[in-house]
Amino acid sequence: MAHVLITGGAGFIGSHIADLLVDHGHCVRIIDLLDPQIHGNGKGFPRYSNPAVECMQGDVRNPADIRKALQGIDVVYHCASFTGVGQSMYQMRSYLDTNSTGTATLLEAIVTQSLPIKRFVLASSRAVYGEGTHHCLTHGILYPGMRNRCDMERGRFEVYCPSCGQALEALPTEEERPLTPFSLYGWTKKHQEDLCLYAADIFGLPVTILRFFNVYGSRQSLKNPYTGILSVFHSRISAGHPVSIYERGIPGRDFIHVSDVARANLLALEKNVAPGTCINIGTGKMVSVREIAVLLGERLGTSPEIIDTDEFRVGDVCRCYADLARAKSLLGFHSHIDLEQGIDEFVGWALREETEDLYLKAVEELKSHGLFGRVKCGETA
Ligand SMILES: NC(=O)c1ccc[n+]([C@@H]2O[C@H](COP(=O)([O-])OP(=O)(O)OC[C@H]3O[C@@H](n4cnc5c(N)ncnc54)[C@H](O)[C@@H]3O)[C@@H](O)[C@H]2O)c1
Ligand SMILES: [Zn+2]
Repeated sequence: MAHVLITGGAGFIGSHIADLLVDHGHCVRIIDLLDPQIHGNGKGFPRYSNPAVECMQGDVRNPADIRKALQGIDVVYHCASFTGVGQSMYQMRSYLDTNSTGTATLLEAIVTQSLPIKRFVLASSRAVYGEGTHHCLTHGILYPGMRNRCDMERGRFEVYCPSCGQALEALPTEEERPLTPFSLYGWTKKHQEDLCLYAADIFGLPVTILRFFNVYGSRQSLKNPYTGILSVFHSRISAGHPVSIYERGIPGRDFIHVSDVARANLLALEKNVAPGTCINIGTGKMVSVREIAVLLGERLGTSPEIIDTDEFRVGDVCRCYADLARAKSLLGFHSHIDLEQGIDEFVGWALREETEDLYLKAVEELKSHGLFGRVKCGETA
């Protein structure tokens, strides 16, 4: 039995990891700030909190809170983070503070007290890659940079080869490729990885880095309009509002159900992976954002109005899905839940919850910071 600390353990993914670890006989403590953007104001720990889990309200940026939380702990899952890609682009200080400084505070407490941590699992993200790995028929494998805003304003939303201009095909994205995040969120996830790799190299901390792709499922905050495609779409549909799909529905993502992600986290504790290893956690399949909106509508038994717009958000990637060879070989991991099952689980939960459609507020914020674009009149691809 391990004594486990989960930072951000009241959140979506952390709470599912907590439940699974308790089911497997581990002793779990969580530390969570209860960020109002995720949990609402003054509501305390969420209703879904597991009664077998010790809940501590505290801040990973606060050394005293962290020292207290780490007492008697031998395994750490670091999930506490701000997670809004678009929001991170203008809330630079708070994203750096929570994600980067929070991670440094946690690691400093571990190494300065020489705590006997036998596994440290970081919840990282596909956002560290930036655009997914692509392929040009002439120039082979490429790691494209951010798409050009002028192209996008002309309705050219594909990813193009910088040498010959051909539209590229997306390949599974592998862990060893260069990391070129586009968003400040992505940069802070890379900082977290770098800090953990540093602690592994210098202090021998047994770090495993899991890079989650697009996670969905029950408990993904329905109040937070800044992240979680399914949760945002659900809030729109429940309020009777249309769902906007950007870039004419071209972008594709790898959607993985949270129960599969929790299982990958359990495997990271059970398998003896070399310190400092990064592992993708996804399904290995790409689905368009449009398909997700249609499927969600079907599973909700409604026909939502889906608007394929010519708008785009600056810094969004076009296509990214996981290469799972390493997850299979090192963790024996593959996803179990298909999209229909996963969406049914999400919908079954979401229909019993209060929703708040704050989507337009998030869009207005992006627009006011110049982070929202549209095809200029008369110019389409
Ligand atoms: N949801 C996804 O699709 C996804 C994808 C890739 C990676 N991730 C990563 O997984 C982790 C968990 O994400 P999630 O989707 O469960 O998000 P979430 O917002 O539901 O959970 C994060 C939790 O961290 C808490 N928190 C925030 N700041 C804190 C602080 N300073 N101290 C203590 N707790 C704090 C929040 O209150 C929240 O409960 C994050 O590190 C995120 O970057 C998530
Ligand atoms: Zn080319």
